Amino acid sequence: MMNCYRKVTDDLYWVGGNDRRLALFENIHPLYHGVSYNAYVLLDEKTVLFDTADWAVGRQFIENIKAVLNGRDLDYLVINHVEPDHAASLEEVLLRWPNVKLIMTPKAFTFLRNFGYPVDPEKTRQVKEGETQSFGKHEVVFVNAPMVHWPEAMVTFDKTNGVLFSADAFGSFRSLDGKLFADEFDFDREWIDDARRYYTNIVGKYGPQVQALLKKAAGLDIKYICPLHGPVWRKDLGYILDKYQHWSSYEPEEKGVMIVYASMYGNTENTAEILAAELAQRGILNTRMYDVSSTHVSYLISDLFKYSHLVLASVTYNLGVFPPMHNFLADMKALNLQNRTCAIIENGSWAIQSGKLMKEALESMKKMTILDEGITINSSFRDSNEPDMKALADALAADLSK
Ligand code: FEO
Repeated sequence: MMNCYRKVTDDLYWVGGNDRRLALFENIHPLYHGVSYNAYVLLDEKTVLFDTADWAVGRQFIENIKAVLNGRDLDYLVINHVEPDHAASLEEVLLRWPNVKLIMTPKAFTFLRNFGYPVDPEKTRQVKEGETQSFGKHEVVFVNAPMVHWPEAMVTFDKTNGVLFSADAFGSFRSLDGKLFADEFDFDREWIDDARRYYTNIVGKYGPQVQALLKKAAGLDIKYICPLHGPVWRKDLGYILDKYQHWSSYEPEEKGVMIVYASMYGNTENTAEILAAELAQRGILNTRMYDVSSTHVSYLISDLFKYSHLVLASVTYNLGVFPPMHNFLADMKALNLQNRTCAIIENGSWAIQSGKLMKEALESMKKMTILDEGITINSSFRDSNEPDMKALADALAADLSK
């Protein structure tokens, strides 16, 4: 019988599955190209499974493990992360391979019990930072990775072959489609936007904790990165490490302007369009515009981690900021977004409030610079607004050229 597992190294196999039916990851983030749940089997003197998988791919996952084990028993299961997109098939593994010994952090043990899994303390080794385990030829070391992405998380480094089982770190949305390694794709064209949207929305809040993990990783001779979602890295590791360095330190990847507008009848939108055209006239071409009402906020957050400058344009609504823009600002703060240069365009037909409120929201975030130049329009952009428009475009162009 043929199966869809993939060989990672001589004795390590990918045994996960792809889910193209899930509409919303964590029931919040839209998926258009699916997601993979990765798990890995090591065939040493002992057999080892690294993590399980979401129940959505449970059957394929179990079949892949059985095929790779080829009749051998399963000796160990290392659980790096207990979120149910990975741990949900644990009970099925325990039923099929009842002799398996579990390895996890003490917090992971508590969390699994809280989720109702029948983990047996007698069959569980609870490991701390720096502890090791030999499986025969391979010896692994366990490294705590708290808040990447939950507090119980750890990563496991195989000292024998340089494989880092990195849990959610270095993961990505998108299904693998038969391929496995990042170098089997044009990652920078096909995947980077999904990888960024995954990181920024799932782990973006925990930049300092990711920085701590990157520092620990710098001391390891990593040859492969095996995450729990998305492709395995075996070449050009510097590419993805550099992206993580930027994202986790809240440093923009590129100088460019993201314009996000909230418009009811098109007048605020028109003002944003005029600004984008004025920027283009000044040679500022790395720009993106989004209608906040029709763009899922996960995309806005993702691009915000990419670009250096942000222009918010919003109509006043119920004496406040237009609700989708309000939600975007709340998400920015929740995800700890910081260190951007911002400008504000406000609109209203009476009692214009949105600019003041957006400014207050941005000022409540860390290291945000708000340009003095901004635009207030009363119902529609008119000739009287032209000086402010030119001043804002000039100020953005000048700031971008620094
Ligand atoms: Fe992919 Fe935090 O689970």
